[in-house]
Amino acid sequence: MTQNKCIPSHVAIIMDGNGRWAQQRNQLRATGHRAGLKAVRKIVTYAASIGIKVLTLYAFSSENWKRPSTEVSALISLFMYALNREMKSLNKNNVRLNIIGDISRFSYHLQNMITNAEQLTQNNTGLVLNIAANYGGRWDILQSAQKITAQVVNGEITLDDITEERFASQMCMYDLPEVDLVIRTGGDCRISNFLLWQIAYSELYFTDILWPDFNSTQFDEAIKAFNTRERRFGGIPTTQEHSC
Ligand code: FPP
Repeated sequence: MTQNKCIPSHVAIIMDGNGRWAQQRNQLRATGHRAGLKAVRKIVTYAASIGIKVLTLYAFSSENWKRPSTEVSALISLFMYALNREMKSLNKNNVRLNIIGDISRFSYHLQNMITNAEQLTQNNTGLVLNIAANYGGRWDILQSAQKITAQVVNGEITLDDITEERFASQMCMYDLPEVDLVIRTGGDCRISNFLLWQIAYSELYFTDILWPDFNSTQFDEAIKAFNTRERRFGGIPTTQEHSC
């Protein structure tokens, strides 16, 4: 269990390295994704146990459609399997599930599963678990711009009404605490069109650990690193103790 004094409210994770994990074992990439799902289960449980309020996981990016169709199918099947299998347990553990992303590209069956899962858990008061599925940070900004533009065209608001707050209010997760910490596993140091707007002041943590191997010890390491960062949000250093 972490001895960290400050637990970030909102942690977002780019879960990279499933494919390499499988290749290292001469297994199919889909096997790596299944191992990745096991890691998801453990990390969700651990996050809730240490008092993280919001956990956002990048499960399927809007660019992942470019992968071979067999892998795309494997990822979508795994997502459906996870929704089927884990819903009861998530609900029992008071987790509120949100899917963020453009779900209109998924089958009606999967869209229904998503709606049902969100409705089932919508009144839960524990960990908020956001799963980014067919999500892209640019898509998120664009869909906000489209909604705001429609409001101007309809005469509901004027150009001067477009403030940062109003724009943000149309983005995914607008009603949740700001992202404090972004973790990326798998060794690459980039954001890959994950949250863009929402991570303006987030701390970034990159680790070589492949996602299926990421566990509570590594999660603690990331939080420990987060605790060493001085967050100034564009201001100047303060002499006060860093407060959460
Ligand atoms: C990146 O590894 C991982 C993904 C594209 C998918 C992440 C999916 C899971 C962890 C399992 C399913 C999760 C849920 C919530 C249902 P990669 O394939 O890019 O690995 P590589 O960089 O080693 O090739």
